[in-house]
Order: sequence, then structure tokens, then C-alpha cells
Amino acid sequence: MSAPLLEVDALTLRFRTPAGTVNVLDDVGFTLQAGETLGLVGESGSGKSVTALALAGLLDPRAQVHARRLRFQGRDLLNSAGEPDASAWQGLRGRRIGFVFQSPRRALHPLRTIGDQLQQVLQVHRGLKAAAARREALAWIERVGLSEPTRRFKAYAHELSGGQCQRVMIALALAGEPALLIADEPTTGLDVSTQARVLDLIAALALEHHLATLLITHDLALAAQRCARVAVMHAGQLVETLPSAGLRGGAAHPYTRQLLRATPQSAPTLSDLRSVDGLLPDLTRTDLPACRFAERCDRSDARCRTEAAPWTRIDPRHALRCWHPALESARPDAL
Ligand SMILES: Nc1ncnc2c1ncn2[C@@H]1O[C@H](COP(=O)(O)OP(=O)(O)O)[C@@H](O)[C@H]1O
Ligand SMILES: [Mg+2]
Repeated sequence: MSAPLLEVDALTLRFRTPAGTVNVLDDVGFTLQAGETLGLVGESGSGKSVTALALAGLLDPRAQVHARRLRFQGRDLLNSAGEPDASAWQGLRGRRIGFVFQSPRRALHPLRTIGDQLQQVLQVHRGLKAAAARREALAWIERVGLSEPTRRFKAYAHELSGGQCQRVMIALALAGEPALLIADEPTTGLDVSTQARVLDLIAALALEHHLATLLITHDLALAAQRCARVAVMHAGQLVETLPSAGLRGGAAHPYTRQLLRATPQSAPTLSDLRSVDGLLPDLTRTDLPACRFAERCDRSDARCRTEAAPWTRIDPRHALRCWHPALESARPDAL
């Protein structure tokens, strides 16, 4: 396998707040290959968005970030102290890494037209002259499936629907021709059919432009449907990464298995629907267990609370961190 597009190793993130230190990310690591689709999933509050922001170099200054390794296209993004090096993001953000966030309407400039915003991205990131940038902006408006491009070019965000705004965000994210698209809950808040169309659009453009995609969502079923591989996060810890195709029968981490049980498609009847037991632990606690799922887990014992489990590889694409994986019932052939 060639060198990964993105390498994240031992990423730790905490916020200092008046109420105390919030220990959000703990030892997060994963890699992404060029052109790969990876779904980052976990309950709300588990640290998915801060992971995206850390990868964008966009965290607020109160965030203390540290990593053993953070590399994009072989380029080191850390300084010698293992902290993000702000200057390393110059030329990456918007150009080589594109972002789509939730609430597209808020992310768009309210006082500038769609066309103007796209044109600027094309001039700044692709170095196009005004006339060429204008033509290309119109082409992007068409490419993301907005009708009447010339009219949309002159539109403002408030004149568009949520789905249309998200299409504009996708155009803005991809117009710089990035190698990686990070999409954080890109369809949350959109109606179901618009959701599907927006995700289809991302998938089609990713394939066409050989883009790697990190799709962040609280919806495990959606991630599995849209991504080749999923990475499961619980309370700021990555607990399992595995191919989506093996998810239903092959998930071995107790948390992934609980998420699956909470996911409608796996429930044979409506009465089997349930959410994950218990709440995410309070991340300001100073006595968090080594495995932050231990207190919600029916397989945990004393060691889970005191000693972090190492990554165990079940096969080349499936790894998890757990002292008591449910291997006996993981049936890779169950699909
Ligand atoms: N700027 C901040 N200051 C303090 N805590 C924060 C800040 N941003 C996020 N957090 C905390 O980090 C945790 C993870 O948040 P987030 O990444 O938004 O979760 P997710 O995207 O998975 O729902 C939450 O406990 C949240 O309260
Ligand atoms: Mg989020």
C-alpha cells in the first residue's frame, strides 16, 4: 500500500475552560488512503467535530492539541513540540483539504453572492484570472446540480434552500481541487430525500476527482452505507475501525455492537430499537477510566478502568482497542 494521504497518530485535545479542563480527544489515530472513504461515527458529543477542526487547523486558541504524528500528503503538520504548526496549514486549507460543515446557510457569507464567493475561491486557490474564475464558478454551480446557473450565480444564501446551500458549500469545498474532503454532518437538518441527493453528489464528485472523503456522522448506518470503512469514536477515543461490509456480523467492540443495535436496519422489529445504554462520561472528570466506555459496558472489568488496551488487529483492515472484544460472536461471514 502506498503512503497514506492522511496520518493521525496519538492525537490528544483538551480545552481549558473556567469550569476546568475538558479532556476531549484521547490518543486518536487513523490513516486515510488517497481516494478512500472513511466514516467517523459516534454519539453526539464524542469529539467528531473537534477532530475535523483539528485536521483543519481551525480550533479556537483555548484548545490544547498534541499529536505524535500528523501528516498530510507526507507533509508534517506539527512543530517540534508535537503541536499543530499553524504555518503548515497555509496552502492546505481550502486548497488541498476541503471542508463541508453542518449549517451551510451560516457558513456562507450573507452579503456576498454565491458566484462571488465561488469566484474568489477559484482566484485564490487556483490562481485563475477573474474571467476564467467566473466561467469556472458557473461550471461548478452546474456541476453540483443547481438549476439556472446564471441566476444562482447572482443569488444570496438567504434566497436558497438548505439543500441548495449545501450544494454551494460542496462547490466551494471542491473548487480548490482538494485531495481530501472532510464533511462534518453534511446532511443533518436536511430532509431525507435531499440528504440522499447531497450524499450522492459528494460520492459522484469524489469518485470523479479521486478524492478521499472523511464523512463525519452520528449515524452508523449512513456511514456504513456511504463509506468503505468506518472508524467508531466514543467519548474522544477511537475504539474500532473496520470495513463497512463486515460491520453487521463482524463488529467486535462492545460499543460498536451497541451502536449497531441502536441502528434501525439491524433491528428485526420495532420493539428491538434501543439507544446505547447510559450517557457519555463527563469529559471534565479527572478520574475517567482508561477505556471511557468501561462504565457503560457489560463486558468490562477492573483492568478496563486502569489500563488502556492496545490496538488489536483482527485482519489487515479491522482493528480495535478492547480487552474483552466480542470475538466469539463476531461472524465475518454473517452478511
Ligand atoms: N470550544 C470548546 N470549549 C470547550 N469544550 C468544547 C469546545 N468545543 C467542543 N467542546 C467539547 O468537546 C466535546 C466534543 O464535542 P464535538 O467535537 O462537538 O462532538 P461531536 O461532533 O462528536 O458531537 C464535547 O464535550 C464538547 O462540549
Ligand atoms: Mg459535531
